[in-house]
Amino acid sequence: MSQTKVIAGLDVGTKKICALIAEVNQDDKIEIVGLGIAPSDGLRKGIVVDIDKASNSISEAVKKAERMAGIEVGSVYVGIAGSHINSVNSHGVVAVTGSNKEVKESDIERVMEAARVIPLSQEEKIIHVIPREFIIDGTKGIKQPQGMSGVRLEVETHIVKGSTTSINNLVKSVEKAGLEVNELVLDQLASSYSVLSNDEKELGVALVDIGGGTTDFIVFHEGNIKYTSVLPVGGNHVSNDIAVGLRTPISEAEKIKILHGIASCDEIDEDQKIDVLKASGNEKQKISKNYLCQVIEPRMEEMFSMVEREIKKTGTKDMTPAGLVITGGASLLDGSCSLASQITGLPVRLGEPDYISGFSDVIDNPVYVKKDGRIPTPVFSTGVGLIIYAINNSKSVSTHTKKRNKRNNKEIVNSFFNKLKTFFDDFF
Ligand SMILES: Nc1ncnc2c1ncn2[C@@H]1O[C@H](COP(=O)(O)OP(=O)(O)OP(=O)(O)O)[C@@H](O)[C@H]1O
Ligand SMILES: [Mg+2]
Repeated sequence: MSQTKVIAGLDVGTKKICALIAEVNQDDKIEIVGLGIAPSDGLRKGIVVDIDKASNSISEAVKKAERMAGIEVGSVYVGIAGSHINSVNSHGVVAVTGSNKEVKESDIERVMEAARVIPLSQEEKIIHVIPREFIIDGTKGIKQPQGMSGVRLEVETHIVKGSTTSINNLVKSVEKAGLEVNELVLDQLASSYSVLSNDEKELGVALVDIGGGTTDFIVFHEGNIKYTSVLPVGGNHVSNDIAVGLRTPISEAEKIKILHGIASCDEIDEDQKIDVLKASGNEKQKISKNYLCQVIEPRMEEMFSMVEREIKKTGTKDMTPAGLVITGGASLLDGSCSLASQITGLPVRLGEPDYISGFSDVIDNPVYVKKDGRIPTPVFSTGVGLIIYAINNSKSVSTHTKKRNKRNNKEIVNSFFNKLKTFFDDFF
């Protein structure tokens, strides 16, 4: 009998809603068989502000993914972001029960419960309690305490919490689209599964997922989460600045940014004139690339300065020898890595998830893809990460599937590429 599981991830972003359906075999090999993207509606800075609109966008993305995969999913792992989210580190301690003083699953559950007891306002809800390390009779750094001997079990955890209203509105939007929520997963935690290596997490690394409305931050050291936060800025602010600075419609600003935008004026070798639509929408104006860059640069500097302040505030700079990894759609702006490195003083690389390299044959939309043909994989870091998170963290990972209309692999792949092409053609 086939041991293949189906997992569905739903990235509810400010710019796009992305649904991914993956088949996972018994060796945890992932095959993405369905992908659906819909323009995001009803969200502001990562937060649902209109349940009906958000739910419609979710439905559209999930249906596209279902059609491509030939599978109907009943439940999804959902990414959550927004500046309502904050985190604290918390400690729990219990005595090991049982006559042989061997740590059992129930002891681990009790110590995790003990760590969960933190002051919470009525308006707050816990999203994650993530164990960072266990300590048995004073011995630190234990990752898997089950079966070990000892009398005193302690745990250091990272607790992520957020506004009850914002969390409930996200869950309602997903449920209104006819889906159950398997689990809510912090966006940057999900992305960390798809773009960071274990070596980087062990050595110490900061990850920044720069999306449309938020910049999500997470720091790892010695394999453990040290810090998470969400900053209320993203690529949409850059597009707004361009629209105002160049007196052009937002949709034109978005195109100009993707095709000609550069994060830092130092990176411009040759100034060129670009044709830009006037705000009236039917006349063109000539704008110099240098001027475009002067509009973009202060916002990008501001974003990376906020990241630098977060790193300083948390005292994690010396803990990140593996440097900074930037991902998310806005990380694709040319010159972002070098500007981020200049501002933070850290080595910076672009974080690109695996499993979607097949996209290269089909993403030919000249707007979404840079002139150099670069594939926008960082846009999918959270979606792919949700699938890998589910495999690594959930006891029963399989998404409920309602109906299966099995197609052969070739059919799935062709359909997948065609749908994707249609999306990128439609989206802009
Ligand atoms: N090639 C590119 N160059 C520059 N910016 C880009 C590129 N591709 C996408 N972007 C920008 O990335 C942003 C969208 O990123 P992403 O899809 O990761 O956001 P999201 O997940 O929907 O939003 P969020 O995570 O903030 O809720 C937009 O501002 C878009 O303009
Ligand atoms: Mg995102």
